[in-house]
Amino acid sequence: MNMITNLLIAILMLIFALYFVFLLALLFFYLSGFISLIFGAPYIPLSKKYIIKILSFIDLSPSDVFYDFGCGDGRVLISSLHDFNVSKAVGYEIAPWPYFKALFLTKYRGVKRIKLFIKNSLNADISQATFIYLYLFPKLVDKLAYKIAKEGKYKTKVLCVEFPIDTNQHIEFQLLKSEKIDNLTVYLYELKPRSPFK
Ligand SMILES: C[S@@+](CC[C@H](N)C(=O)[O-])C[C@H]1O[C@@H](n2cnc3c(N)ncnc32)[C@H](O)[C@@H]1O
Repeated sequence: MNMITNLLIAILMLIFALYFVFLLALLFFYLSGFISLIFGAPYIPLSKKYIIKILSFIDLSPSDVFYDFGCGDGRVLISSLHDFNVSKAVGYEIAPWPYFKALFLTKYRGVKRIKLFIKNSLNADISQATFIYLYLFPKLVDKLAYKIAKEGKYKTKVLCVEFPIDTNQHIEFQLLKSEKIDNLTVYLYELKPRSPFK
């Protein structure tokens, strides 16, 4: 009888511990989603098929250094390396859940030539970037447009998914092309030469 009681107590404690871990994981997940939202965009990963269509639109080359600002679980970065053979992929992600997922996926798949930062994109070092990918809400796209115009290299390309750069306000960018791909519109820009008088 005593043994049965002990066993029951142990099972109850195990259930309680599992429940506690589950609650912690849930809290982590929701907190992460909240962080994404307050910093500029929720975590909405695109499907692999869709990523291929979008990246095919922009003529990536093996000399490109591809940045994803708000890289989520890193799937766009991985595709830029494996399907389009860019020289390096760099991701910035603010929320812990997608960042750790990206870290896990890249380690698990042995992805090389990738660098991931858990950091606000607004504080990114973009000195190496030749391509910058943005799938973010308009307010953050606007802030990043100021940053890229100031710190980016001449001819840096910027790909915006769904939310474009306002080129009336950000005259440093030239729209090269745009297209509706399935239900999202993508916009490709190039950074013009910087004015010597600015
Ligand atoms: C719409 S998802 C895009 C995910 C991925 N780039 C894709 O296209 O599949 C936007 C991501 O940006 C991240 N994010 C939002 N604001 C950010 C910021 N200021 N700096 C870095 N990442 C940010 C969110 O956490 C989220 O994972």
